[in-house]
Amino acid sequence: MLSKKTIEIIKAITPAVAAHADTITCKFYQRMFAGDPQVKAYFNQAHQQTGQQPAALAGAVCAYFSNIDNLSALGPAVELIAQKHCSLGVQPEHYPIVGKHLLAAIKDVMGDAVTDEIAAAVGEAYGVLADVCIGRESQIYEHLQTQPGGWNGKRDFVVDRKVKESDIVTSFYFKPADGGLLPSFLPGQYITVHIDHPTTPTSPRNYSLSDRPGLGYLRISVKREPAALADAPAGLISNYLHDAINEGDRVSLGPPCGEFTIDPAHAPTQPVVFIAGGIGVTPLLAMAKGLVAARTDVPMYFIQAARNSSVHAMREEVRDLANASSSVVTHVVYDQPLPGDLESGKCDATGFVTREFLQETTPTIEAEYYFCGPKPFMACVELVLNELGVDEGRRHCEFFGPKQSLHVQGVDV
Ligand SMILES: Cc1cc2nc3c(=O)[nH]c(=O)nc-3n(C[C@H](O)[C@H](O)[C@H](O)COP(=O)(O)OP(=O)(O)OC[C@H]3O[C@@H](n4cnc5c(N)ncnc54)[C@H](O)[C@@H]3O)c2cc1C
Ligand code: HEM
Repeated sequence: MLSKKTIEIIKAITPAVAAHADTITCKFYQRMFAGDPQVKAYFNQAHQQTGQQPAALAGAVCAYFSNIDNLSALGPAVELIAQKHCSLGVQPEHYPIVGKHLLAAIKDVMGDAVTDEIAAAVGEAYGVLADVCIGRESQIYEHLQTQPGGWNGKRDFVVDRKVKESDIVTSFYFKPADGGLLPSFLPGQYITVHIDHPTTPTSPRNYSLSDRPGLGYLRISVKREPAALADAPAGLISNYLHDAINEGDRVSLGPPCGEFTIDPAHAPTQPVVFIAGGIGVTPLLAMAKGLVAARTDVPMYFIQAARNSSVHAMREEVRDLANASSSVVTHVVYDQPLPGDLESGKCDATGFVTREFLQETTPTIEAEYYFCGPKPFMACVELVLNELGVDEGRRHCEFFGPKQSLHVQGVDV
């Protein structure tokens, strides 16, 4: 429990911390990687270069400080963070390291404004949040370790099959190298790939499981990541997986984690709409396949958006959903169709997923919406759902990277 005095101090300094939050968290990572380089291996350095991880941490710190007297509001945020930490193997002994450098970064940036009293209050507040995270992570670790076929940290797998899904997407089917059991998982969860890359050996990456549980393998489907900018490198691990990892190779994996899930054993009673943009199809396909396999008769709508047929992955698997269950309706939408794509039936519509499209094809008044894809795509879907009056509790989305705001400039979403 935080003392009344600490709560007052945190409330008083929140506007100043929020105004400097991005600078503080950038400085924090610089300090931490220089002072305690042993923790650097847990972090995706591309998320540092692009500023996404410092921004996500800044958002979390500000949300915590703003809700310092209402910590229950942080439940979903803590779950996301704890699941991510467990996927990467973060341990309780890392928390004092983060706390030390975070406080030092706050002092660096805010200078004399941080009195001893304020520093003590920030330290106390950090300790409470750290304890909440450590507590939840210990529960997740225990579940991962004790369930049949489960594991913590890293486990060796063998690539049983490597299947090209489109010009830019390839699936990898993994089986345990020890021949042991596979754990169950919730559709929508992701695993962590630990590749011993020749130039950057420690570069963990999360990949959503793209097939449902219970099939005797774990499958991921990986898009080749191009360079984000002309002078930036092409994606390190996705391209390495495509080019250098083949059937029979061993790969070390972290356990299934993540809170963007649907439990087929407790299927929703409301209609479910899946909206996939590009490679964002992976967690949604696993969810839809899980629900179909559970023989739920809840109405499902699967909207798959892609640029065109050359980069359209998992086409047959999405169509098979509708063949397997009369409760499923699928739609394929291309925004840059190739000549003949529409005529040959490779897509059902062209253009973007608009308000009119969702109004015509989905029950907007009652459905739960699950969406995933590149950030501009998700921002667009978020905007449309907002316009359609779908309340926030019925919107569920996954970022393929640190969580970001879906606020579209100039538009309140
Ligand atoms: C929960 C979750 C689930 C995911 N599921 C999937 C999935 O199912 N399928 C899938 O394909 N991906 C998925 N991802 C994304 C995946 O984890 C990787 O982020 C993705 O494969 C890119 O990794 P990479 O190593 O190839 O690229 P990185 O090397 O990480 O680079 C990513 C981008 O950053 C840019 N960049 C790197 N360095 C710099 C720099 N110095 N300056 C500017 N830009 C730079 C690169 O140009 C590139 O565009 C998921 C991510 C998460 C968090
Ligand atoms: C209370 C303290 C902490 C808070 C509030 C916090 C917050 C966060 C947040 C918000 C994210 C981004 C989640 C997402 O959107 O995907 C994250 C990711 C992460 N955190 Fe923490 N964290 C804390 C402690 C730690 C500690 C002690 C470590 C261990 C070194 C750690 C390592 C990581 C790593 C490796 C990631 C993934 C980064 C990436 O994708 O590059 N965190 N954390």
